[in-house]
Amino acid sequence: MHIAMVSAECAPIAKAGGLGDFVQGLARELAQVGERVEVILPAYDSLRLDARAPPSVIECTLQVPFAGESIACQVLALSLDGYECRLIAPRSVHGFFERGRLYGEPDDAERFAFFSRAVVEYVSRPEARPDVLHCNDWQTGLVPVLLAACATAPTRIPVCYTLHNVGYQGWVEADLLTRVGLDAACLPADPGDPPRVNLMQGGIVAADVVNTVSPRYAWEIQNTEQGQGLQACVQRYRDKFGGILNGIDETVWDPRTDPLIPANFGPETLPRKALNRQALRARLGLETAVERPIMAVVSRLDRQKGVELIAHGIQHGLESGAQIALLGTALEPAIAERFAHLKSTLGASPHAHLELGYDESLAHLLYAGADMILIPSFYEPCGLTQLIAMRYGTVPIARRVGGLADTIQDANYSTAPFESRNGYLFDEPTAEALEGAMNRALELWRTFPSYFSQLRLNGMRGDYSWHQPARDYLGLYAYARQAQGFAGS
Ligand code: ADP
Ligand code: GLC
Repeated sequence: MHIAMVSAECAPIAKAGGLGDFVQGLARELAQVGERVEVILPAYDSLRLDARAPPSVIECTLQVPFAGESIACQVLALSLDGYECRLIAPRSVHGFFERGRLYGEPDDAERFAFFSRAVVEYVSRPEARPDVLHCNDWQTGLVPVLLAACATAPTRIPVCYTLHNVGYQGWVEADLLTRVGLDAACLPADPGDPPRVNLMQGGIVAADVVNTVSPRYAWEIQNTEQGQGLQACVQRYRDKFGGILNGIDETVWDPRTDPLIPANFGPETLPRKALNRQALRARLGLETAVERPIMAVVSRLDRQKGVELIAHGIQHGLESGAQIALLGTALEPAIAERFAHLKSTLGASPHAHLELGYDESLAHLLYAGADMILIPSFYEPCGLTQLIAMRYGTVPIARRVGGLADTIQDANYSTAPFESRNGYLFDEPTAEALEGAMNRALELWRTFPSYFSQLRLNGMRGDYSWHQPARDYLGLYAYARQAQGFAGS
């Protein structure tokens, strides 16, 4: 099958968070089982091309109708590990993708509307036509809307649409629709001045199949305020909606072979993890000659992630005898200031280091060197940090929401057998509930280290691979094709 995945991110070249890991991991797994996979991205100027050859091959040129103009674009081709990447490069118009970063621009809606329009032009050429399109998040919600409006039903390309984060739905001014060549009335507008439309909702309605990234979050967005206004829409389309738990790319995230950590280790060589702990302390300037566990945070610092609880957890961890290592990126200025302030107040402590920024290699060292990882999310569609941490023998302390609830079995209060318990969960988004879970973890680490090691090993032995999720996506693609009348082909 020829699968075209359309996304704003794909690791390692364009990653801000888990969406990048998702596209990379699923694309590689699908390619490995013999599918032809093409990932379509904007040609950001900030692509991390490292030692790879620059994308010098021009696959084709396109004329993209946008805002009454015809905009020339190049489509550049780049071969990544097992799959093809296509980069949409508008030629010098508007500087849409020349911002030094992926998101966070005032004209994000317009940039991704343009990208969606260009993708539709690209895949509509008979020689490029995929068997299925897999669109992701609000940035590409317009793709199925455009396909439904532009093509006649029997020849329409089947679309699978995945919701990674309902907290960002792409509310945009309705006149953006006319700029991409749509009728302004093709999506229901929120009355207001100016009227606004919701791109994610448009994608849900127009796609053939829709899913999110864990079964629990699929339930939450239909039945709780976590739907953030989309509850009724998702319920209405529940026949084509479900949850598939993400995997992680087990070649990128493998402590036995990871080139970004100083001491490789696995379940059979767990004591070697201590070498990474020492290296982490040295790199972050944490005191070395101490009997303290390291509690890590690796996160976008966003309200979704429970930033107040993260800040509280840092203070509580320090007071309770842990060392703290945080790596976080904040886009929102108020949150960036909050953590810069916290960093300066903790400046004198030999037991805390806050690194504010994005750092791939430090993230690997943190997973490898830490003992616990704190994930007090307000909501979490899937969450990959707990899966990666567990693979590296680092025990998660997390809120029982979304994919965290689906993947973590509480050390004390689970009905699961001992050999599958792998972390700590708490329910209420309060400081008391967080402290309760942290205290249980710290106490076990101090008083019963062999059971704490067992929790690490249980986590390391879990199956977080993409094998089963990729099979499930192939099943979804087949449904999407049936919905479009391609049954059996
Ligand atoms: P989300 O996609 O909501 O940010 P996930 O848990 O799904 O959360 O994925 C986060 C991914 O981004 C993980 O691969 C994590 O290691 C990475 N990550 C998050 N913040 C940083 C950072 N500041 N530096 C490097 N990697 C980061
Ligand atoms: C989003 C979610 C995160 C999920 C990731 C990949 O960024 O916040 O929970 O793991 O997408 O699906």
